[in-house]
Amino acid sequence: MRISIASDHAGFEQKQLLVDYLAAAGHDVADRGPDTDERVDYPDYAALVAHDVADGAAEAGVLVCGTGIGMAVAANKVHGVRAVNVINTQFAELAREHNDANIVTLSGRFVDVEENKRILDTFLSTTFGGGRHAGRVEKIMALECSVHPDGADGTADAAKR
Ligand code: RB5
Repeated sequence: MRISIASDHAGFEQKQLLVDYLAAAGHDVADRGPDTDERVDYPDYAALVAHDVADGAAEAGVLVCGTGIGMAVAANKVHGVRAVNVINTQFAELAREHNDANIVTLSGRFVDVEENKRILDTFLSTTFGGGRHAGRVEKIMALECSVHPDGADGTADAAKR
């Protein structure tokens, strides 16, 4: 599978280990950085992987920061991305099966690398369930083009909320 991966400084050490792990498993891995553990801003690296996935250059994305939270928030700003912050294998499975997630974000500070490897194995091997989940995922993607129910700028009937 073609996988794009990146981290910030807090996820750097695990990112290096996970790049090797994924490559050894036979994946085609694009390491989008950083190359050192110097302090960086996670949105810059989330953007690189998010665009790789959104553009089709990668089939799946992996992002590692301290918690995985900031990476998920940032990556989800890019159209076409469904990024999930995953801390156990059950969530990895459900994120693929129910949500058709295309990027997994991992915690380099609160989840050990062996568990993150198991999370990646599960995430990358689980297929989307389709069926009743398909329409829900379509509705998620439609939100990218949505306007506020009260009007384009959300101010029209603000007093009613
Ligand atoms: C960096 O200190 C930390 O904020 C970052 O790695 C990440 O956890 C943000 O969500």
